Amino acid sequence: MQFTVAIDGPAAAGKGTIGRALAAQFGFAHLDTGLLYRAVGAKGGDPVLAAKSLTADDLTRDDLRSMAAGEAASRVAVHPQVRAALLQFQRAFARRMGGAVLDGRDIGTVICPEAEVKLFVTASADVRAHRRWLELGGDEGQILADVIARDERDIGRSDAPLRAADDAITLDTSALTVEAALARAVAAVQAKLPRRLG
Ligand code: C5P
Repeated sequence: MQFTVAIDGPAAAGKGTIGRALAAQFGFAHLDTGLLYRAVGAKGGDPVLAAKSLTADDLTRDDLRSMAAGEAASRVAVHPQVRAALLQFQRAFARRMGGAVLDGRDIGTVICPEAEVKLFVTASADVRAHRRWLELGGDEGQILADVIARDERDIGRSDAPLRAADDAITLDTSALTVEAALARAVAAVQAKLPRRLG
């Protein structure tokens, strides 16, 4: 069975948490596509060459989760050739047998417009910055400024900008517990699963 759950939204909105939990619950594979862009940014040098030569090892670096790596990722992600180099891998992953959950910025709009379920997971910038601060520590005001700058770059770029697909279900997690957000995501998947699996 091919079944794709596309999850898009801004940084620290809860995409990863929801994506991992959905994958575990339904036995689907999960791909955090932000990690691909983070790995390209972290390699340094020419980002197009870095994207074309990306290996599984590059995704295991332990510095990919930092704010700096997210910032570097969003800078390389504006290059159409970087995005093109990462496209086929993501598409093949989305349509693998057994079901897949992908989270990112352009999954429901560009990578997998035919996804069976599309979720747009969002939250206010303040809430997202606070979550990042709880996770990484540091200066919360600076984190908020970084989150806003990254949103602007991701929304404003001309190739594959961050936006909700027309047929996406929006989940605003600002005032939702993880459990409540997850319950809505699970219901959205169950509603689209073939009867015998739901
Ligand atoms: O989701 P994460 O914070 O790891 O993403 C890092 C950056 O990678 C994003 O700010 C965005 O610029 C880029 N990205 C993207 N398309 C995706 C996933 C991430 O442009 N599908």
